[in-house]
Amino acid sequence: MPKRTLISNATCVLPGETRQANVLIEGSTIIGIDPPSTAHVDELRDASGLHLLPGCIDDQVHFREPGLEHKEDLRTGSIACAKGGITSFLEMPNTNPNTITIEALHDKLNRAASKCVVNYGFYIGATGNNIPVLQAAQRTPGIKIFIGSSTGNLLVDEQAALEQIFAETTLPICAHCEDETTVRANAERLSGTTDVADHSRIRDHVAALIATKRAVDLSTRHKHPFHVLHVSTAAEVEFLATTPDWVTAEACPHHLLFNVEDYARLGTLVQMNPSIKNKEDNDALWQGLLSGVIEVIATDHAPHTLEEKAKPYPSSPSGLPAVENSLALLLNAVHEGRCTLENVVDWMAAAPARIWSMKAKGQIAEGCDADLVLVDLQKQHTIRNAEQVTKSGWSPWDGVTLTGLPVETWVMGQRVWSDGKLVPDVLGSEVQYERTT
Ligand code: DOR
Repeated sequence: MPKRTLISNATCVLPGETRQANVLIEGSTIIGIDPPSTAHVDELRDASGLHLLPGCIDDQVHFREPGLEHKEDLRTGSIACAKGGITSFLEMPNTNPNTITIEALHDKLNRAASKCVVNYGFYIGATGNNIPVLQAAQRTPGIKIFIGSSTGNLLVDEQAALEQIFAETTLPICAHCEDETTVRANAERLSGTTDVADHSRIRDHVAALIATKRAVDLSTRHKHPFHVLHVSTAAEVEFLATTPDWVTAEACPHHLLFNVEDYARLGTLVQMNPSIKNKEDNDALWQGLLSGVIEVIATDHAPHTLEEKAKPYPSSPSGLPAVENSLALLLNAVHEGRCTLENVVDWMAAAPARIWSMKAKGQIAEGCDADLVLVDLQKQHTIRNAEQVTKSGWSPWDGVTLTGLPVETWVMGQRVWSDGKLVPDVLGSEVQYERTT
């Protein structure tokens, strides 16, 4: 008989209602909400005073394995997820080698099976000439296109190649949208700069909007499910309000919480692609989330070492780590009254599960996987570089005090993070997808 655990007395964010409930887990599955008191239970976890949420699903992380393991690897990245309340991640293909073949995809899945402490999935990367791979790929949430180059060498910019990908493949597509021509022209104009604030002038508002419109146009004409990664501008939010239902979008904590004024304090630590923008853009992204134009919050966790980040701009790499703090940052936003706890659950669990057709994920409901996080909404804590478990060992939020903290994470019915540390010998599982096409 698989072990039965009852998580009792927590305030649970259930689909459509938030209330105190008892959640019964058998093996890796939630088998009952408020089961009869006579139900057999092997372990009781009294969670009085805490809130129980479905584990977060981060659909955009860079865990750097294989090839760039000095920045992060699948084990350290997944441990950072466990600490942060993220129970499933979807990882990007700009590793070395790039994940652009079935062999590379399976290699990542095999590596993850033996070392990831949370659930995992990996995108297949588009190159412009790997259509047969994109057509054959299974065991993946979808196709990632860099319409605009970022870290690594994956870029598909030619219209004919993009048309072919949208026309001849069926997996959902997501894209990094920054217009390469605009970015290159801006870089040329500002060549010689060493001011990191110019990053937002080079990767400017226009570059983001042109590429997002171009990708949405492809998706609309080909009726192809499409997810806009890391929206960074008010103009994109306004545009996305007019797009078909099968176009979805996401925002990242750094685009919600940082803007160009932060370069003075944080320098290259907030150098990201797409770049951080202005205060008005922060506000528009929040509005976009609250109005449902943007469905998902994901981190784009993109760790580089502090040594790499200390290089002078523009030699400094773009990207920052975030998985271990994203939920806490959003719980703090709940504390500040910017959004509700139910919003956070929707953006960070239910919506990504739905968009990527994940089987049995994203909800606290009978039959769903027991991927759960207990949070303490009152707990104050200060983010400290020294306490970060990402291999990169830093956070752009170092020194920031937040109210609200994930305190215990469960993956497939097993406690994986508890009392401030990793529970040994727990491994996650491969995310499964339920697609009709
Ligand atoms: O700033 C970024 N860094 N944006 C991306 O899209 C990629 C990422 C990375 O892999 O470093």
